[in-house]
Amino acid sequence: LSSQSTEKRRPPPRRNFGIAFDIDGVIFRSESPIGGSPQALKRLYDEDSGAIWIPYVFLTNGGGFRESIRALELSTLLGINVSPLQVLQGHTPFKNLVQRLENELVVAVGKGEPAAVMSEYGFKNVVSIDEYASCFPGIDPLAPYKSWEVKQAVFVVSDSIDWSRDIQVLCDILRTGGLPGMEIGHQPQLYFAHDDLAYKAAFPSERFGLGAFRIALESIFNRIHHDPLSYTCYGKPNPFVFKNAEAVLKQLVSSCPDSGLAPNNASTAVHNFERLYMVGDNPDVDIKGARQAGYPWFSILTRTGVFKGTGNHDKFPAD
Ligand code: G3P
Ligand code: MG
Repeated sequence: LSSQSTEKRRPPPRRNFGIAFDIDGVIFRSESPIGGSPQALKRLYDEDSGAIWIPYVFLTNGGGFRESIRALELSTLLGINVSPLQVLQGHTPFKNLVQRLENELVVAVGKGEPAAVMSEYGFKNVVSIDEYASCFPGIDPLAPYKSWEVKQAVFVVSDSIDWSRDIQVLCDILRTGGLPGMEIGHQPQLYFAHDDLAYKAAFPSERFGLGAFRIALESIFNRIHHDPLSYTCYGKPNPFVFKNAEAVLKQLVSSCPDSGLAPNNASTAVHNFERLYMVGDNPDVDIKGARQAGYPWFSILTRTGVFKGTGNHDKFPAD
């Protein structure tokens, strides 16, 4: 991607296509922009009004911060105006679980502000694993006399920054279904924001991601517990992530002043795309996901991150 000068007045776009950009390994390596990514993204805006010219979203498995905070950070780093609607993180679909788990105690794990993320999604009883762990021993000496139990759910929102402590505490919670130290009980629901084994950061070779943490937790849990660990992973390459991205892109088109469509409501956004581009660096995640999602998705694989081959990827070749 390189910066190029554009003609002064562009004709109104047909907006028959949209773009989903992966972040790590495509737009950034850690906090450093890759290639001319800021300049390329600027070309998706109208030079005069600053409004979005071509509908696009960031479709990342990363996270740990609220979408509003991440949008501000991206705006600053890239010098463009990113709205929270355009930030789709691995944990963004967790908000769809609020109704099901409304009254459960949610334990939020990961770097950044995982508890604030879950509270913003509408969960009422959220505690971070840091706060949770600091409460022991003997947090509630009356617990044995109580006839009710607090149901719990665990959300791994982003990368654990203390694997040893988090695996220990999570095994305690997951084995007992209640407070650590109690009898073995029913395993609480466990959700991961994504299952990326590795991702591209600043270091020359890939770094372990949430998927690696999941493997470590699962293998230890399965050694100490009679039933295997049960869990659900969100994020790419799940097809619903791409469905949701398509719905958001339609919403972005309908909110463009010159679109001629009903404004800003996904349910009334009847716009149809001929093509949606997924630009990613990880064949197992970005390309596999776009291929599984099918029409109108079209995958583009970069060599700026996880993938390093000279040709196409053999197992999940990009379009
Ligand atoms: O932890 C983030 C990483 O696993 C993937 O981020 O932007 O490449 O989907 P991204
Ligand atoms: Mg990536």
